[in-house]
Amino acid sequence: MSNFKYDVGVIGLGYVGLPLAIQATDSNLNVYGYDIDEDKVNSFNLGKSAIEDISDAELQKSLEKGLFLSSDPKYLSDSETVVISVPTPLTDYQPDLSYVRSAAETIAKHLTKNQIIILESTTYPGTTIEVLIPVIEEISHQKAGVDFYVGYSPERIDPGNEKWNFKNTPKVISGINDESLTKIKTFYEKIIDQVVTVSGTKEAEMVKLLENTYRHVNIALINELAILCNMLEIDIWEVVNAAKTKPFGFESFRPGPGVGGHCIPVDPNYLSFKTRQIGKPVRFVELAQEINNSMPSYVVSRLLEKMNLLEKPFKNSNILILGVAYKKDIGDVRESPAIGIIENLYDKGVNVKYFDPFVEKIVVNNQGVEREESLDNLNNYDLILVHTAHTDFESFDFSKTEVPIFDATGSNHYKNAERI
Ligand SMILES: NC(=O)c1ccc[n+]([C@@H]2O[C@H](COP(=O)([O-])OP(=O)(O)OC[C@H]3O[C@@H](n4cnc5c(N)ncnc54)[C@H](O)[C@@H]3O)[C@@H](O)[C@H]2O)c1
Repeated sequence: MSNFKYDVGVIGLGYVGLPLAIQATDSNLNVYGYDIDEDKVNSFNLGKSAIEDISDAELQKSLEKGLFLSSDPKYLSDSETVVISVPTPLTDYQPDLSYVRSAAETIAKHLTKNQIIILESTTYPGTTIEVLIPVIEEISHQKAGVDFYVGYSPERIDPGNEKWNFKNTPKVISGINDESLTKIKTFYEKIIDQVVTVSGTKEAEMVKLLENTYRHVNIALINELAILCNMLEIDIWEVVNAAKTKPFGFESFRPGPGVGGHCIPVDPNYLSFKTRQIGKPVRFVELAQEINNSMPSYVVSRLLEKMNLLEKPFKNSNILILGVAYKKDIGDVRESPAIGIIENLYDKGVNVKYFDPFVEKIVVNNQGVEREESLDNLNNYDLILVHTAHTDFESFDFSKTEVPIFDATGSNHYKNAERI
């Protein structure tokens, strides 16, 4: 029987932390969620979730069931397991572990003997042992693996995915020693259907980077082929759709306007950072970055070409962008390729508006981009760019508009559209 009031304390209530807290509550654990952002915690406590995958009703149900959220870290000392899910962004193109360090300091100040500390933030191999543990040990004067237990488990949450959720997606786990691993396994088995153990924290950290680098590289490959197929007058979509009928040895990726979100454009940089410490670049990552980063300007070049063919000036033209989120059916614009596309269009003197039912605001060059409230005024535009394939758009009949459409998503909905 544990002496802790909370089975788990979650540090960082974002896209990863809040679903974890909700799932743990659902699995009948006593859960405490901590976030430094007081406004966010207050809004969550009013039952308002700003995270797409969590509805207000789900959040309210968890709060009623006892989920306790606070911006005061003192309850960490009463949490048997502490999971860290704080951001790991890039600052000046370098891994920024300041949030992980700060979470580690907070843990150290509230550390209780026998606590289990698990890092879930995506990071380079070695972070748990080289960064997290030294900070906690130095401040708390307690020894990892003896006084408290430590492990790493990568998060695989896929916002907007209705099939694979927190509970049914297998979870890779690791510990710094056998005791840590056993305790971490027991914890995750209470909330997740299948756990997969690996031998150490470095391996677990690397799993996440392999998964995301694999996506990054394959998206770059198909983007490069899309550009080449366009030059060779081959329909890349027909090629992809036919290739994916192969039942083995081929996984299909789709071309698009670039990569976005917190993971794919960011995580491979964590891998490059680590390998450069041993004097080696990850050549695939660098090439993939070059190709994927060039996609927004490629899309703009295709729009310009289209306007040329229509014998219309690009400068002062009016372009509507359909969808600015980085992927379908969510409102996340972090690292969205739409930002680079709009920046580039502004540079060329184009007037841009966007329509996206999920996105209230998108900022480019420090200013909010003009938002179209409905699809009633399509004829005010010279060109429409479909950037994100939101399901909502499928219920609108675009065949009625005369305005040319350039579709960067490869959807079948825009019958006469030119595709990437
Ligand atoms: N979003 C995804 O789809 C996804 C998927 C897999 C992995 N990840 C990884 O998970 C980690 C978290 O990502 P996210 O998308 O949930 O981030 P997020 O920005 O949505 O949420 C992070 C939260 O942490 C809080 N925070 C920051 N510093 C803190 C501190 N010192 N103490 C307490 N709270 C603090 C922030 O206020 C914020 O609410 C990142 O490493 C990310 O790469 C994200």
